[in-house]
Amino acid sequence: MSAHAVSANVPSADVRLFEVGPRDGLQNETTLLSVDQKVALIERLVLAGARDIEIGSFVHPRWVPQMAETGEVAARLTSDPGTRFWALVPNPIGLERAIDAGVKHVAVFLSSSETHNQNNLNRTIAESLANLEDACRLARAEHMMVRAYVSTVFGCPFEGQVDFARVLEICARLLDFGAFQVSLGDTTGVGKPYQVREGCRLALEAFGPEAVALHLHDTQGLALANSLLAYEVGVRHFDSAVAGMGGCPYAPGAAGNVSTEDLVNLFEAMGLDTAYDLDAVCATARWLNEETGIAPRSRYFAYWGAHHPQQVP
Ligand code: HMG
Ligand code: MG
Repeated sequence: MSAHAVSANVPSADVRLFEVGPRDGLQNETTLLSVDQKVALIERLVLAGARDIEIGSFVHPRWVPQMAETGEVAARLTSDPGTRFWALVPNPIGLERAIDAGVKHVAVFLSSSETHNQNNLNRTIAESLANLEDACRLARAEHMMVRAYVSTVFGCPFEGQVDFARVLEICARLLDFGAFQVSLGDTTGVGKPYQVREGCRLALEAFGPEAVALHLHDTQGLALANSLLAYEVGVRHFDSAVAGMGGCPYAPGAAGNVSTEDLVNLFEAMGLDTAYDLDAVCATARWLNEETGIAPRSRYFAYWGAHHPQQVP
């Protein structure tokens, strides 16, 4: 990826969506996409209006084989100044791999519950924080932009309830390490509407609107309600995946992310600009389905499909 991919020149929108389909989406699919298919998906997302796209991860390929070729994907992408391509990294080794691949935007991650962190990263939270501090130091030295995820913030599949004060402490550490934003991960989609609203309110109060994003998985069909309440208390950054793909392979019960098309439709229906072209997002979901067999899981896609019949050759 060219160094010119770095840019602060990203067009503004009322609500900013961060597209995680090529990473969070594909990491949990049994269908393995080729490098060509991943690049084509990412290019279609750019054309549909995505300005921040997570293109893959530099985790261990034995842990997540779907992400083994992220370096090749990164090398194939050229971006215009308004697009930022991100890669997920778990530790300094992943960060070095990102640097080697020419990636300039990285996302680090850990969990707010010990058992999920052990399952996902094979480390205690304290060990992960030390790893991420080192990774962030390396990233800063390379003038990379760093984002951070904190997982299981509204509940853990192994431990149940999570202390939100602990979540905020971990977020504060990641921001101190140099992350510009923390994304609150509802990894298995267990967050209840007023719980999510209150968690977002506390995070916004502590860190401000540019430093907080919401990352919802739609296990119970509550992701849109939770997004709406989060918007109402001031959240302006939301993660989503085209076609509602996704899930953490190391969190039992994790369903797909809230879909990009449902979230864009929600915000457009409220008169808000997302910078996305909703038809083009749906056309991308249809292309993905035709190309790979991955079926879109969103409500809006079903509605859109009924009004945009496929061309019969
Ligand atoms: P480990 O086995 O403890 O690694 O795994 P290690 O540090 O003991 O090293 C063992 C070997 O792995 C060494 O190689 C290292 O070099 C190598 P050897 O000397 O044996 O040849 N290694 C690596 N190789 C490639 N890339 C690396 C890397 N690091 C070490 N980055 C590790 C630790 C972190 C690697 C492993 O646990 C891992 O890859 N976990 C990632 C799991 C994952 O990707 N989960 C999904 C993403 S998180 C998510 O989806 C949640 C999120 O969406 C938010 C939400 O929804 O809440 C972000
Ligand atoms: Mg996720």
